[in-house]
Amino acid sequence: MVDLKSILAEKISEKTGIDKSLLYGLIEVPPDKALGDYSLPCFRLSPVFKKNPAQISMDLKNRFTLPDDIVRKIEVKGPYFNMFLDGNEVTKLVIRDIVEKDFSDIGEEGKDKIVVIDYSSPNIAKPFGIGHLRSTVIGNSLKNIFKFLGYNVIGINHLGDWGTQFGKLITAFKKWGSEEGLKDEPVKYLYNLYVKFHREAENNPGLEDEAREWFSKLERGDKEARELWKKFCDLSLKEFKRIYDRLGVDFEYYLGESFYSSMIDETIEKIKESGITEISEGALIVPLEDMPPALLKKSDGSTLYLTRDIAAAIYRHSRFNFDLMLYVVGSPQSLHFKQMFSVLKKMGMDWVKNCHHVAFGHIRFENESMSTRKGNIILLEDVLDRVVELAKSIIQEKNPDIKDKERVAEAVGIGAVIFNDLKSSRIKDVIFDWNEILNFNGETGVYLQYTHARISSLLRKFNERYGSIEYNSSINFGEELFSIAFKLKDFEPVVLKSSEEFEPSLIARYLLDLAGEYNSFYNRYRIITDDYGVSLSRILVSLCVKNVLKSGLELLGVAAIEEM
Ligand code: ARG
Repeated sequence: MVDLKSILAEKISEKTGIDKSLLYGLIEVPPDKALGDYSLPCFRLSPVFKKNPAQISMDLKNRFTLPDDIVRKIEVKGPYFNMFLDGNEVTKLVIRDIVEKDFSDIGEEGKDKIVVIDYSSPNIAKPFGIGHLRSTVIGNSLKNIFKFLGYNVIGINHLGDWGTQFGKLITAFKKWGSEEGLKDEPVKYLYNLYVKFHREAENNPGLEDEAREWFSKLERGDKEARELWKKFCDLSLKEFKRIYDRLGVDFEYYLGESFYSSMIDETIEKIKESGITEISEGALIVPLEDMPPALLKKSDGSTLYLTRDIAAAIYRHSRFNFDLMLYVVGSPQSLHFKQMFSVLKKMGMDWVKNCHHVAFGHIRFENESMSTRKGNIILLEDVLDRVVELAKSIIQEKNPDIKDKERVAEAVGIGAVIFNDLKSSRIKDVIFDWNEILNFNGETGVYLQYTHARISSLLRKFNERYGSIEYNSSINFGEELFSIAFKLKDFEPVVLKSSEEFEPSLIARYLLDLAGEYNSFYNRYRIITDDYGVSLSRILVSLCVKNVLKSGLELLGVAAIEEM
């Protein structure tokens, strides 16, 4: 994309002999537009020229002959060398670049690089709660972002399909469950059995022993235990996939925890060989600095989530030889990942430096608790249904004749939930507010979708009146489209930054700013007027805004809508 800072650094470098990359690092966008579009603070040049900064900025000004091709005015304010750009020329540069751009493929950045993303990873036989939504949505967006940058991306769903809870579930199913019960809503049914198990076990500790026995049977490959477990997995997956379809999410691999159960002994051997383990009260542990020890094997011989994660990391490294691996998991698991990374590091697995825990905060509904144990979990599907219903009634009101109402409502509703999740930096808690989620004028998905649809409709109108939209170099954009163009040019740098910080919210914020800039133009000026030249310049900028909005929304996993 057009890099104005680089163009300016080049110009100043030519005129002064100062190193371009030094200048590039110094040029900034001033906090106030009245101070210029770009500014070069000259403090750091002082040692180079052995002069005071104010003198240097004055000298710089004297070397510039104006007007230049893109600089319209220069003002010196003490040590600051402030540049004002020619709006028409810059808009031209930016628009020419974007109009011709194919956003499906900008990626040199990730060429020949492999990134593994572990995301969503819900637990079998537990409803897909709103809590797993964040991992799903953030992980999916990161996947889109890295793909966009040309990476080879491998998405893995690390399903929670192993562990002692399956012993409990089998026990409960055998005691109180039936095939019949699994017919309608199997996951809810299994989950209720699981809740019942915990309730009953409070007065009947024998149940825990039975559960342990069933899990150990499962681990040994007992036929009955295996069959029940497999059934629970299949039923749950079917339900999860229904949700993934609605969210537009998919995975290269479903490799749940059970997949690693056969590698556990070998992994534990490997860890032992590296000489970092100890036995403590019958359990196998790795003592760690500044944190509690990593527990690899309990005294009863059962292994843990952590052990399976260590096995998984080693397996993934040997299979995929990744350059980067991301675990998109809530911040309550920070210690877990710290321990896991420390163990791998102690084992001499140097590549662990490329593994990152991409943590995030909770979703908060007022007055509604979200624990699975207590049995009052908020089901994601219920939330999605309710949002889509709400979207439908709003659309009905605003545009009763719209075709494809169901499809649009689904895209708006789902988009609203996804965007709400991505609009703030991920580590913050997300507030789910029914009054805000579909606000057409708020910081919402529907606001962006609506802006996109509005431009689509303008494009159709332009087309009817003036024919196809063609860029040519003699178009005059004037000054008033400049602030939109100035935003447009930031799209790719923002995407790049979001990949470096694993932060889709940067794109979400950017799109809100861009739409805000465009809509304030739209509210002041007409796009299609009786003047062909004026209309063409405005529609071209609109088209570029549309293309960037569409690409950006798709990176977030939100559908761009043509008509609504
Ligand atoms: N199933 C886990 C949970 O729901 C998340 C797994 C995340 N991935 C991992 N490799 N630990 O808490």
